[in-house]
Amino acid sequence: MTTSAITTEPMTPLVHSVREVVKETPDTFTLSLQAEDGSQESSFQPGQFSMLWVYGVGELPISISGDPSKHDRLVYTVRSVGKATNSLVSQKPGSGLGVRGPFGKGWPVDLARGHDLVIVAGGIGLAPLRPVIYHALSHRADYERLVLLYGARSPHDLLYRKELASWARQRDTQVLITVDYGGLSWRHHVGVVTTLFKFARLRPARSVAMLCGPEVMMRFVARDLETHGLLRSQIYLSMERNMKCGAGFCGHCQYGPHFICKDGPVFTYEQMGPMMDKYEL
Ligand SMILES: Cc1cc2nc3c(=O)[nH]c(=O)nc-3n(C[C@H](O)[C@H](O)[C@H](O)COP(=O)(O)OP(=O)(O)OC[C@H]3O[C@@H](n4cnc5c(N)ncnc54)[C@H](O)[C@@H]3O)c2cc1C
Ligand code: FES
Repeated sequence: MTTSAITTEPMTPLVHSVREVVKETPDTFTLSLQAEDGSQESSFQPGQFSMLWVYGVGELPISISGDPSKHDRLVYTVRSVGKATNSLVSQKPGSGLGVRGPFGKGWPVDLARGHDLVIVAGGIGLAPLRPVIYHALSHRADYERLVLLYGARSPHDLLYRKELASWARQRDTQVLITVDYGGLSWRHHVGVVTTLFKFARLRPARSVAMLCGPEVMMRFVARDLETHGLLRSQIYLSMERNMKCGAGFCGHCQYGPHFICKDGPVFTYEQMGPMMDKYEL
């Protein structure tokens, strides 16, 4: 299989063109990219990221948010928070971007076979977890319950609204959503994502949990999951740090003994917990 998105030379970007840009929320957009020659395939593991190079602006790590079984394009969901992300979300179909990767170790979808998947996402954190949901739904017999807890700032900030509704209709799947501020027309839950635990159909002994969102949110969620009886080794989280090379060469992303780009971004809470607790002090 030829893999356009896997650069054999990790520091050399491959030129891709933007095929589609979909507005998810006022500040978040999903971009679909294809290799310029259009002929090659791209493959990735759920949870991996690419380094996207915006010409004249810079390079930044962005998780792949598309379906891992679809090899004809690479999909990214980007929230505009600064210069590089703003430039990314302003791209138009036909424009070119450089892509390096995919990089990193992703979610443990193989190890989680035969278990309940408990997915907890905050804000843009649903983007790196969406490939796990696609994977689990297309290999449904390999997994038991799928429980998704998702928190956003407001109803306007919810990503993938149509998909959330369609996932909620799947068998053995529970989708619980909460927002920080609901407004008058919001009929659902209001509060931080951990307040959803009391409604979740959790079976701690047979669960593998996957968390992505702001670090403070992951810390609270991981602690609550521990209280519910999950071991730290059953809890996985995706870490974010500033990156340069993305491939384990420069040391820019070092966190304790780990390089987030190469050893992660997905780690167990067993690995990250002691450092996250220390950092909090
Ligand atoms: C492994 C990995 C995967 C990532 N995946 C995604 C993804 O799928 N989608 C996505 O949108 N982003 C993702 N990010 C974050 C993204 O790389 C950063 O938001 C981006 O580098 C910011 O660059 P900028 O020039 O736009 O902002 P900067 O100019 O660097 O920052 C502008 C302001 O925003 C703040 N800021 C920076 N990053 C964030 C952030 N992540 N959240 C909130 N505030 C921030 C800064 O502190 C600063 O105040 C990922 C990061 C990593 C390490
Ligand atoms: S970003 Fe260079 S080692 Fe991780």
